[in-house]
Amino acid sequence: MLQVPLPVEYTRLTDEEVCARIRAAKDRLGSKVVILGHHYQRDEIIEHADYRGDSYKLAQHAREHPEADFIVFCGVHFMAESADILKPGAQKVILPNLAAGCSMADMANIFQVRRCWKQLEETLGSDIRVVPVTYINSAANLKGFVGEHGGTVCTSTNAPAAISWALNEGDRVLFFPDQHLGRNTAWAMGYDPESDMCVWDPFKPLGGNTPEKLKASKFILWKGHCSVHKRFTLEQVERARADHPGIRVVVHPECEIDVVRAADEYGSTEFILNAIEKAEPGTKWAVGTEINLVSRIAKENPDRFVMCLDPQICPCSTMYRIHPTFLCWVMDSLAEGHVVNQVTVPDDVARWARIALERMLQVGQVPAAQHVD
Ligand code: 13P
Ligand code: SF4
Repeated sequence: MLQVPLPVEYTRLTDEEVCARIRAAKDRLGSKVVILGHHYQRDEIIEHADYRGDSYKLAQHAREHPEADFIVFCGVHFMAESADILKPGAQKVILPNLAAGCSMADMANIFQVRRCWKQLEETLGSDIRVVPVTYINSAANLKGFVGEHGGTVCTSTNAPAAISWALNEGDRVLFFPDQHLGRNTAWAMGYDPESDMCVWDPFKPLGGNTPEKLKASKFILWKGHCSVHKRFTLEQVERARADHPGIRVVVHPECEIDVVRAADEYGSTEFILNAIEKAEPGTKWAVGTEINLVSRIAKENPDRFVMCLDPQICPCSTMYRIHPTFLCWVMDSLAEGHVVNQVTVPDDVARWARIALERMLQVGQVPAAQHVD
């Protein structure tokens, strides 16, 4: 996404000036603006958010503010696109920095998915119904694809419910772009990661599989991953347990399966936050997710010990692109009557993508995480 450089005056402001200007613009705009902040945003952004949450909760908020003219989405591009699709009226959705993408979302594109779909049709035949499920971390046209082909969107909050729904609708699930969320969810439902699943590599014929393997697989998992969550390892879990007896390990389901299996609990960013907030004072927690969230949980719960599983810490570099000066610039512009950085999804894509996103919200949730023994 192309982001124009910030006007030079913004690059000269101090942190305090930036914060004060955001507050002043927000006061001027009043109920015309709603600021949504994903949990991975830095504190200097979160302090201005009207609502913070995981992808699922923020998608719900995007639908719930007909009074606002503007939804300023402090998150990444696919979240702003989803908000534009779900918004209840003529709201304009603003992403403070258009370069805030998601490297996992970029691992599947519409041409690759169409090619995969055609090969699956040719290999599996018309008697086997494949239901496509896309993680919300994907471009709007992929959401449109699943809407048009009888599938759904899911988030890490409702992946179990979405996959159960898909299995009721058909015989196989094509899950993209995150192989790990797909594998972890199917495994928790009792499926075998080896015999019931295969990985689809978009750069290889038949995704790198034999026709027999494809026919035998209940789940076809796209070869995508999150570079932040890939850093967490089984060794880190074992080290945390050895160094801090009694510690509980909670991770995001974008982690690899051996990490999820070794954890005590896993779930969305909101789940992780709630798990620690609801725990007894004095409890100890090792967390496998993005560092801004881990640090904030630690700060807001000083009577619990909270550490990141990865000693090298791992920020999401694209979430980090929402720098306060960008938020300041978009808010000043809105307060002065200029809309900058609007994210719009074309109508022909939005029509089907809305069906898939509405389905995600209808399918709802089952408990986001299972206790892993
Ligand atoms: P959540 O839906 O759990 O907030 O996850 C979004 C995400 O991008 C995690 O990497
Ligand atoms: Fe994408 Fe990973 Fe960043 Fe989440 S943490 S937005 S999946 S790159």
